[in-house]
Parts: sequence; C-alpha cells; structure tokens
Amino acid sequence: MNITKLNQIYEGKAKKVYATSDPAYYIVEYKDDATAFNGLKKGTITGKGVINNKMSNIMFRMLEGKGIKTHFVEELSDRETVVRAVKIVPLEIIIRNVAAGSFSKRYGVEEGRELKCPTLEFSLKDDALNDPLINDSHIIALGVATEKELEQIRKLAYGVNDALKEFFASIGVKLIDFKIEAGRLPDGTIILADEISPDTCRFWDAKTNEKLDKDRFRRDMGRVEEAYHEIFGRITGKK
Ligand code: TMP
Repeated sequence: MNITKLNQIYEGKAKKVYATSDPAYYIVEYKDDATAFNGLKKGTITGKGVINNKMSNIMFRMLEGKGIKTHFVEELSDRETVVRAVKIVPLEIIIRNVAAGSFSKRYGVEEGRELKCPTLEFSLKDDALNDPLINDSHIIALGVATEKELEQIRKLAYGVNDALKEFFASIGVKLIDFKIEAGRLPDGTIILADEISPDTCRFWDAKTNEKLDKDRFRRDMGRVEEAYHEIFGRITGKK
C-alpha cells in the first residue's frame, strides 16, 4: 500500500496510532507495554506487541470472511498495521460466555460457571472515571451512541462472539469473555476496531482450564509470555 506514516495522533496503554498521507487510513503500532487495573500495575510482556498485532489481523480476516466489517486493511510489519480511520465509540463492549473477572466479583458467582446465555455489557471508556459500567438508556441519553448504533453494536458483538467461540473451540480453547471496540466510518457505518488478543479476551484451555491470557499478568501467575505464545502457536497451527 502506498501510504506514508505521519505524526502520532494517539498513544494508548498498548498501542500507538499514527496519521498517514491518506486521511482514510491510520497506522497502529502495537507495544509490549502491559497495564492492569486502569494503569495502576505496569509491566512489559516481551513479544506481546508482535503477537497481538498478528493475532488480531488473523482474527479480523477470519471475521471479514464471515461478513463482519472490521478496520483491518494490511499488515505492514511485525508490529504495524494499516487500518481504516474511524472515530472510536467510547465504549468497552464486553461479551461473556462463562463467569470470570469483574462479573464474578460483582455478582458473587464462582469463576468458571457457564452462563445460560452470553451476556453483553458496556463500560464508558473514560480512564478518569475508571471505565464505569453504563446501560443502554444512559448511552443514548448522553449521546455516546444512538439507538440505531447500539442495535448495530449489539449485532456486531454477538456476531463476533459466535465466530470467535467456534474458532477457538476448534483449537481446544474456551472463549470465556472478551472486550471489543466499535468505530464510525465517515459515512456513519459502524465497524469492528481495536484488537482481538490475549490482552482483550479470556482464553482457557478446554481440557485443563489453564489460563492462556493477560490474567496471568494481572494476577501475577507467571508464564505470561508462554501463554501468549501458546495461543498464537495454536492459532497459526504450529502446535
Ligand atoms: P473484566 O472481567 O475485568 O470486566 O474483563 C472482561 C473482559 O474484558 C476480559 O476479557 C478482559 C477485557 N478487558 C479489556 O480488554 N480491557 C479492560 O480494560 C478490562 C478491564 C477488561
């Protein structure tokens, strides 16, 4: 693709975003930096940026194949990818298949309990407020998204869940829960953005329930890099 990387326009906890010579595209660059608890815990997961970049792109291609529109355009290098320039809807869109993490804490449910149906919840993306949970009527009342956009986001989230659950089951992994973000194209279309990686999903080995995701970092469980490599190895068929 014939575009040039220009100035950095955003730096998040795990990625940087750059403008390019074509306003329709950005370049994202994945870092090895890891944070948890809204940045209170900081560290490095060596090689994470490369794995999250490549894994997200494999997931986006798979989802595109199932008719889900994503921001993915082209992988440029180990850590850099060209994406469509979208305005991110400031919501963390979370789907859960099995109780874990903040859901287990909030409702006093043991981690690992199968839910009778997938759940969908939203958090407002606002670090200063600690990403508070937000409901549909609040989202609409505050103008974070319209009713029509929310409907598209729900459809997107459940569609991604169906596709990811099936994919991960085929490589011996249970998809416990995940977070996605949605973006608006200039014409208002909602597409899938951000990343799909062990930073943003919970993956448990289907047989042993071993955690193969960022919980190993959040909870100081050790073998963090190994977990990222294990998931990536299964995805790319090297294991
Ligand atoms: P939670 O149980 O801590 O609410 O996390 C639910 C899912 O969302 C889990 O797969 C991890 C992911 N997640 C993020 O991607 N970013 C975040 O800032 C948080 C808190 C969770």
